[in-house]
Amino acid sequence: MTIPLIIDTDPGVDDAFALALAVRSPEVDLLGVTTVFGNVSIDHTTRNAQRLLALLGSTAPVARGADRAMGEISRPDARLVHGDDGLSGKALTLPVNDRIDARDAVEFLRDTIDASAEPVTVAAIGPLTNIARLLDTHAGRIGRLVVMGGGIAGGNVTPTAEFNIWSDADAARRVLAERPVLVPIDLTRRCAVDGAWLESLTGEVGTTLEGLTTRYREFYLEANGIDGILVHDAVAVAEAIKPGILTTREHLLDVDTSDGDGRGSLVPGAYPVDVAEDTDVEALRAFLRDRLSV
Ligand code: BDR
Ligand code: CA
Repeated sequence: MTIPLIIDTDPGVDDAFALALAVRSPEVDLLGVTTVFGNVSIDHTTRNAQRLLALLGSTAPVARGADRAMGEISRPDARLVHGDDGLSGKALTLPVNDRIDARDAVEFLRDTIDASAEPVTVAAIGPLTNIARLLDTHAGRIGRLVVMGGGIAGGNVTPTAEFNIWSDADAARRVLAERPVLVPIDLTRRCAVDGAWLESLTGEVGTTLEGLTTRYREFYLEANGIDGILVHDAVAVAEAIKPGILTTREHLLDVDTSDGDGRGSLVPGAYPVDVAEDTDVEALRAFLRDRLSV
């Protein structure tokens, strides 16, 4: 039996790897992709999602979602990391796809979850605005919620905050109350892939994905002095596809939604969250390479 899956995403280079993994995995039935602002604007993330699906030969619907955070506080995007268009300046080299679902992302999520005979897994790999809104009506009705976000030992945009949570802290706080599987940067950093891994990708999809990493790879080289990238979102989607590929442990957490410097950080709290802490890193890299080399 396949797992019905919806991906909520802000492509983004690592989101592109995650989408490819989902489309190329027979264990899941990709019911749709919903978009959110984040790495770049909603116009760009939506166009990128459409074009990536065309590259992947998927006709899964794309529904456009939030263009900003729920509250008053808006944050800068991550174009410095992913390039001005979100895909290292290469978005327009991907096949054209203008198909868009007429519904807003939240309406699409609601309708699709309601229409599914089996519980739907939602993989949220961008800011959590759409998912927090979905929970107004569908708390308890998502089969499994896998979220890429947060840092336990520290952040990647501030010393303590990670990008997806920091981009909409209020939304993230609402989502934590739903007991997600949380895949934090503590683990995704350990799953980094190097230049040799990227160059070992084969096939039209694999080589195109490698080609989308130029700016992203440059960013990590400048930041860390190492030729390698983080495929955060693909690590989370691997768990959505193969439950248990990551080892989780319950943490009691909350999100700092204050106006102070800690806003957007994970803090100790009362929400039980299944935090992904470990995996067989080499096996995960091999799994990703095999699935993406097509
Ligand atoms: C997360 O932030 C984004 O830049 C990536 O796409 C990923 O979802 C990592 O902090
Ligand atoms: Ca993302």
